[in-house]
Amino acid sequence: MDFSVTPLTPTIGAEIRGLDLRRPLDDNIMAQVRQVWLDHVIVLFSEQDIDDAQQIAFSRGIGTLELINMAALQVPGKPEIYRATNLNEDDTIMVPEHPVMQTNRDNQKWHSDSSFKHVPATASLLHARVVPESDGETEFANMAAAYDALDDATKEQIDDLIVVHNFYWSRRGVDAIAFTEEEKAAIPPVRHPLVRVHPETGRKTIYAGSHAESIEGMPQEDSRALIDRLNEHATQPRFTYRHKWRVGDMILWDNRAALHRGLAFDAAVQKRRLHRTTVAGNRPTL
Ligand SMILES: [Fe+2]
Repeated sequence: MDFSVTPLTPTIGAEIRGLDLRRPLDDNIMAQVRQVWLDHVIVLFSEQDIDDAQQIAFSRGIGTLELINMAALQVPGKPEIYRATNLNEDDTIMVPEHPVMQTNRDNQKWHSDSSFKHVPATASLLHARVVPESDGETEFANMAAAYDALDDATKEQIDDLIVVHNFYWSRRGVDAIAFTEEEKAAIPPVRHPLVRVHPETGRKTIYAGSHAESIEGMPQEDSRALIDRLNEHATQPRFTYRHKWRVGDMILWDNRAALHRGLAFDAAVQKRRLHRTTVAGNRPTL
């Protein structure tokens, strides 16, 4: 192997050292990186001084990219890049009422990117450009390890259930944004298996998180109790890794096998800008 792999925790995450993501990786190295990623769910690459084009090129080695459909979240002219930031174009801090600030707060709930889509995202990659001095970590939880740790009765109970994911469910508490009917129609609720079989590893994973609204055929009260219980179980510290960002860090994660959330920081004072690329899924989950 042309690089080193160091696990970040016993259950999730590995750091790869020795690769320079500014240059294209050959197919053999890329296949090895992919295997490390599948084995560890998230991979950290530190000290990567890459620009958007290099991030896009590396991300395309994982798969076809999603395009960001909200102009306020894009880098202008680069629909592949989602900006996770509290900064305006001129690097001043956004006012708290800015719709993007609301989106940032929503990303503090555990979720899997694009799980509210019929064909949800396979992977996401975040590259740190500007980081706050304190707080603002990102946490990741391993949904395959969480599934494995369930008792047999729960596994049997949930194995064949269908869960409905709904973007507007996870945004129901949003104070500042009123969604139009047109916007709602563009992202209708979607059905997924509550227990997904990972298409590459074959492992079973819990597919819930904050977009999960209800279980098909179950009274809403019971649905909520089950989803909340699974989310709580799956995000216990023993299944998670918390990343403190340094400029140049790149993290690649598997949305099919991980939940993640951004932790709060003093967004009225400290600056943060992470650039995300998102690898699209290639088929529905059902
Ligand atoms: Fe996210």
